[in-house]
Amino acid sequence: MRPAEEDLKGRRILVTGATGYIASRLIPRLLDASTDVRATSRSPHALAARFSGLETIASDFMDQRSLEDALQGIEIAYYLVHSMDMRDFEERDRVAARNFLAAAERAKVERIVYLSGLGRADDRLSSHLFSRHEVGEILASGSIPVTELRAAIVIGSGSSAFDMLRYLTERLPVMIAPRWLATRIQPIAEDDLVSYLIAAGSEPHPGGIVEIGGSDVVTYREMIHGYARLRRLRRFVMSVPLLTPRLSSYWVRLITPVPTSISRPLIDGLQNEVVVTDDVAASRYPSIAPMGYVEGAVAALDRQEELLGEELSSGLSIPGSRLAVLTDERRVDLDVSIDGIAAVLADFGGDASWYPLPWAWAVRKWMDKLFRGGDLSWTRPEGPIIRGSLVDWWKVDVVEPDALVLRSLMKTPGEAWLAFRGGRRDSGATLVQSAVFRPRGILGRLYWWGLWPFHHPIFGAMVRRLAKRVTALSGPS
Ligand SMILES: NC(=O)c1ccc[n+]([C@@H]2O[C@H](COP(=O)([O-])OP(=O)(O)OC[C@H]3O[C@@H](n4cnc5c(N)ncnc54)[C@H](OP(=O)(O)O)[C@@H]3O)[C@@H](O)[C@H]2O)c1
Repeated sequence: MRPAEEDLKGRRILVTGATGYIASRLIPRLLDASTDVRATSRSPHALAARFSGLETIASDFMDQRSLEDALQGIEIAYYLVHSMDMRDFEERDRVAARNFLAAAERAKVERIVYLSGLGRADDRLSSHLFSRHEVGEILASGSIPVTELRAAIVIGSGSSAFDMLRYLTERLPVMIAPRWLATRIQPIAEDDLVSYLIAAGSEPHPGGIVEIGGSDVVTYREMIHGYARLRRLRRFVMSVPLLTPRLSSYWVRLITPVPTSISRPLIDGLQNEVVVTDDVAASRYPSIAPMGYVEGAVAALDRQEELLGEELSSGLSIPGSRLAVLTDERRVDLDVSIDGIAAVLADFGGDASWYPLPWAWAVRKWMDKLFRGGDLSWTRPEGPIIRGSLVDWWKVDVVEPDALVLRSLMKTPGEAWLAFRGGRRDSGATLVQSAVFRPRGILGRLYWWGLWPFHHPIFGAMVRRLAKRVTALSGPS
């Protein structure tokens, strides 16, 4: 356990906005520290299933009464709520912060940690960044010490601004962008951000504004090129002064799944320089040595793979896990117990009988040998399948009694996974098969859609074949 986590042990902590991106990364680290963690959300149902040991409570910050129970007995509260996707977000965020402060004072909360945005007040801040600072002022206007951490873009899968940049870079070989390409920014890696949140929650003398950032100051142009290099993509970015934030947000909507309600305030904010202006963070939290942009982006891609594995094996929805991936999912309801699925998955691989259209797989293996020099063969471990085992041309990423997540070792323009999961039903079980592909650039997308006429029937036949084995092995439930 890291030292700051140690200091939080035994404290009663509240994490707000728990279904959100930042909170969903903070909660596991707090639970690891075996702290007493409660989380609020307007729809908390899925949270308890994802985080064992987490106490969840429904609360809408627009309604002060719903905050009373949430704050009861809390010592440290993390404020991670915002309504950026709403048209009237400034007013809503003001009301939410006032309601929260009033309820926190009544509950005698010891300290509040609030995550806000970087940006200088004298820089004609965008309405989003202005609102972030305003919320900080409201929270700090009471009697509770508030540490306001101010960060620029968080580098992580699920972080709206980084997601937008990723989508654009993956999808557009030539990008037309507004002037803000040259704006300087100091992005921060997800893991470092969470370390600062924990350090701020655990410090003996909390309070004040602390600007935090990674070790690199870059421009948005450099961020795009840095990410492209990492993914082995060539990208040309042209700056067009006439492109307004409104036009840019429509363009983003056309190219990416990011809704205009989210991209517009983010794009407005891209015109403000968001760079750390002092060394308060370094002197207050000397044990944190934040990483640079590229290191953070590598960590973000790796982390996405971990979360994807978790999501595919659990069936729970995790923010950021399916970002920029293509999925083919099949479900078959079976009149068998889930143990039947587990028994078949434990036996998976080692010969051609698991795969339909053996000639298609033979061609695929031959192509892989031609292009990669690899030798894909039917194989599986002598004993049980464990994490890291090689099963045919897959490496095992996750293995659980009723789930198996396999990562492809075949040469593809992107990363591919095949996953199987058993789920319980009232009577019987459901077998879920997911083929997931994270395409690299346009070529990756062409590969996925070009092979669709072959993959579509293969995936369908594969899950049926597996279901047949489960039924043959189990008999009726
Ligand atoms: N992501 C970044 O790159 C970044 C960078 C710098 C600062 N920040 C700051 O970090 C904080 C969290 O950001 P995020 O990216 O995690 O945001 P997010 O994913 O959009 O999550 C925000 C959460 O706010 C909650 N919320 C909204 N309206 C609410 C209401 N009326 N009552 C209760 N909860 C409400 C929502 O929870 P429910 O729907 O579950 O109720 C939502 O999950 C924000 O203050 C943001 O400005 C983020």
